[in-house]
Amino acid sequence: MALVPVQQAANKAPAAKQLKKRKPNSKVWFWAVDCRYSVIVDAVRGLGWRAVEDEKNESKSNIYWIDVAAIHERFRSIQPWQMINHFPGMPNIARKNRMGQNLNRMLKMFPREYSFYPRTWVLPGELSDFRAQFDEKGNSIGNKIYIIKPDTGCQGRGIFLTRTFDQVPQHENVVAQLYIKKPLLLDGFKFDLRIYCLVSSVKPLRMYLFHDGLVRMCTEAYVKPTKQNISNVCMHLTNYAVNKHNSNFQQPTAKASSENENGSKRSLHWFMTWVRENKGDVKADWLWNRIGILCVRTVLSIMPTLSREYDQHFRSFNGIPWSFPQSSGAGAYGSGGLGAGATAGAGSGSGASGGRAGGEDRPRSGSRGKAAGEARSQSRWVVRPCFES
Ligand SMILES: Nc1ncnc2c1ncn2[C@@H]1O[C@H](COP(=O)(O)OP(=O)(O)OP(=O)(O)O)[C@@H](O)[C@H]1O
Ligand SMILES: [Mg+2]
Repeated sequence: MALVPVQQAANKAPAAKQLKKRKPNSKVWFWAVDCRYSVIVDAVRGLGWRAVEDEKNESKSNIYWIDVAAIHERFRSIQPWQMINHFPGMPNIARKNRMGQNLNRMLKMFPREYSFYPRTWVLPGELSDFRAQFDEKGNSIGNKIYIIKPDTGCQGRGIFLTRTFDQVPQHENVVAQLYIKKPLLLDGFKFDLRIYCLVSSVKPLRMYLFHDGLVRMCTEAYVKPTKQNISNVCMHLTNYAVNKHNSNFQQPTAKASSENENGSKRSLHWFMTWVRENKGDVKADWLWNRIGILCVRTVLSIMPTLSREYDQHFRSFNGIPWSFPQSSGAGAYGSGGLGAGATAGAGSGSGASGGRAGGEDRPRSGSRGKAAGEARSQSRWVVRPCFES
């Protein structure tokens, strides 16, 4: 696995990379009991780390991987020499309503930088403003279509399209969003991209963009919403959970997900090659750059909260010298850490001013590009590699 710093990744579209082999490092004890994904434990063993499954060794573990809801108990007991796979405060972008609120707040301050998502109303709080998008009879003005999504939903559950106000829930926590009527299509089908972005440190902010991901396709050929097709979820929602039941769903055939070039689930690597071949190098680089910027700006929208929560949970670590082993096998965390404990005490400021840093990430040609690069390297928002294998 090779994770590329967002800034570096943003300047160069993904390409296949040679994998290096790691030496075993028995100093790393990985708490595997609360990990739900065997692929993680396999990767841990592949790195030569010890996967701890015996409760007796729970407190000796130096990395906790927690996929269960009781994460806050672990935050309370974490020690300065331990790391954890979550940062407190991330639900502020993981839940739809809170993400809508945070992005809308940034949009007001930085309209140009935050114009990357469709107009969003967080309901019921913004119901009266949303009502103003419909005429007295409750029909959408300008024949616009809105997509309504439950706050806590996932996998497309509870999502529907509407052009009338009477269908909009009045008291439930949902987001309403302008529906993108003319999406880019692949072979006539709507699709979305699953991007993998790792936040390895909050103070300072350090993010990595994985060079591969998934393309998830609809199973009914796309037609702009009409009365007849507006509730056809396999035409309008790209979720795998929705489309896998359709008889048109084509299982991926390649063994490695990175090699999937056809079917209803393809690799991001394939998609970027498709963009390069069909739209040209300039657009492919521009797109990859935009994806990196989008990830950075989304996290920046909650930076003050992340920073505050970080201090609240790990304040007691301030002043404790940071001295984790720096051997070759420890490269994975040597430059600052995977999670909270490791980076505590290294804090170097926070705040909404980071929003500007995201805005300065655009690559530019010629001397302006060079100047921007120099300015970036002095930025407080460090993005540099800590995972390489
Ligand atoms: N504004 C929009 N315009 C067009 N299509 C949209 C829009 N919002 C969502 N969709 C479609 O609906 C699908 C589901 O939406 P979304 O990803 O927001 O919710 P989810 O998959 O249920 O939740 P989550 O991704 O948070 O687990 C998207 O993958 C996309 O295909
Ligand atoms: Mg989704």
